[in-house]
Amino acid sequence: MNVTDALKIRKSTRAFLDTSVSREQIEKILSSASHAPSGTNAQPWQVAVVTGRKKDELTSGMEKIFREGDMGGMDYQYYPVKWQNPYKKRRVACGIQLYSTLQIDRKDKEKRYEQWVANYHGFGAPVLLFFFLDPVMKTGSYLDYGMFIQSIMLAAVEEGLATCPQAALGQYPELIKKILGYDREIVLVCGMAVGYEDKEASVNSYRTPREDIATFSRFFV
Ligand SMILES: Cc1cc2nc3c(=O)[nH]c(=O)nc-3n(C[C@H](O)[C@H](O)[C@H](O)COP(=O)(O)O)c2cc1C
Repeated sequence: MNVTDALKIRKSTRAFLDTSVSREQIEKILSSASHAPSGTNAQPWQVAVVTGRKKDELTSGMEKIFREGDMGGMDYQYYPVKWQNPYKKRRVACGIQLYSTLQIDRKDKEKRYEQWVANYHGFGAPVLLFFFLDPVMKTGSYLDYGMFIQSIMLAAVEEGLATCPQAALGQYPELIKKILGYDREIVLVCGMAVGYEDKEASVNSYRTPREDIATFSRFFV
């Protein structure tokens, strides 16, 4: 598989088969992704690979807290507090695409709520990855981390696996760190669901659009 194909095939997958993924597959993917660049080759990534009972403990824990009404909060500000265009309209379109594919009405709060809860289960994926960053590292490491995370997703495509990067899995950092035994001070960047795509699931049937390159690039000579 070439890189262009992998870039185009990768998509956020929100329904997985319960077919298991081997430790060797995950190790291969992480090993490939570790070739990602990072400033001064600092390689700031620390990954928790969570499966089985530990995954169930984490996912049910997150769901419970959420259902109790605790909205949690990430270790850092990922999204803007006040959205502005053009990002606001792209974000709205993203939600419309998801909910219209699932035939969930805008006003159907219950179904939208349950769809959100699916986030805390990694949409049924057998493997969850949690990405941690040493708090001594600064903003640049988030840039490095993005490259590492995309590398994981592309290597997963080559393995025939699907992924969904998830900020939602970073919403209850205290719980995750406690259950996995990480230091309280470490930064939980986000999580990722990894597994085999459920190709029958309608939620996986659409692709998100992209702006034309003319909207975000300027050429100078
Ligand atoms: C860091 C990051 C966090 C994300 N968090 C979530 C999430 O919590 N839940 C979710 O369903 N999708 C999440 N997404 C997926 C985005 O919605 C998705 O990447 C975007 O709509 C583009 O679609 P595509 O990934 O299918 O190309 C996240 C993506 C990134 C890069």
